Amino acid sequence: MTPGDSSRSRGWKDNPHPRYWWHRLPGTDYVPPVYSDLSDAEWAVLREWYAETDRSGPIGECAVPLISLLHGLVMGNRISRIAQLGTCAGYSALLLGWMLRRMNTPHALFALDLDPAMCELSRRWIIRAGLQDFVEVAEGSSLDDRSIMSARKYLNGNPELVILDSSHEYQSTLAELDLWYGAVAPGGLLVLHDVSEFAAEFDVTREGGVRRAFAEWRKIHPEAETLSLNSDSRSMEAARPLYKDACGVGLIHKPQYG
Ligand SMILES: C[S@@+](CC[C@H](N)C(=O)[O-])C[C@H]1O[C@@H](n2cnc3c(N)ncnc32)[C@H](O)[C@@H]1O
Repeated sequence: MTPGDSSRSRGWKDNPHPRYWWHRLPGTDYVPPVYSDLSDAEWAVLREWYAETDRSGPIGECAVPLISLLHGLVMGNRISRIAQLGTCAGYSALLLGWMLRRMNTPHALFALDLDPAMCELSRRWIIRAGLQDFVEVAEGSSLDDRSIMSARKYLNGNPELVILDSSHEYQSTLAELDLWYGAVAPGGLLVLHDVSEFAAEFDVTREGGVRRAFAEWRKIHPEAETLSLNSDSRSMEAARPLYKDACGVGLIHKPQYG
């Protein structure tokens, strides 16, 4: 199998499992660069990762639209200091890690999770993928100041990019935004997964989830440039004209000056 081999992720087109939803969309019968760029050995690890998590979970990873957005941002701008809040089984950490290795940027991804089992699982895969020099899986809460200090220490500076994909709870997301906006480097970016109406259901406290936190945070921070895609998406079944993830995504750009 060679990079770009058409059989790679195209095989998931007929897989009915919810996690493969992107591959079943009309017209997505191609291999996105997040997968076609991988070496055969990397692709083999990712296949094994899918096989294991298909069998026993957990399944909580983002999908092709968000990882492709992150892929483009990181690769196109040589972003070398990234903090990810919420690692789960390690899908994004693996795919970002392989990109960072191609870019030759060691110590570039600080992946945080408060669940020790998730840390153990994702760490095992990071080692299996040979990415220990590029990715640190850290156990801790995104709401703890010490996590910011650990991120700065590992990354050797403030993160340029912060990816929020953790509890999905309104109160915690608001606190996370306050804490990590302060930590992000001037000119840096925060990317929030799950800003849609549909994804507000993931908030176990039933207080409006990431969508409400983002909406309120934006109002009190007019100095930051913000954008959301699909914040009005209500279900996985409804049409999404441009951005294909019904969970939506939010962007916060911290000004370089001021
Ligand atoms: C949706 S999953 C993350 C998926 C991951 N970003 C990916 O695409 O592969 C959410 C993870 O956030 C973790 N989490 C929840 N609240 C957190 C917090 N306050 N601090 C750190 N991790 C948290 C959970 O344990 C869970 O593993």
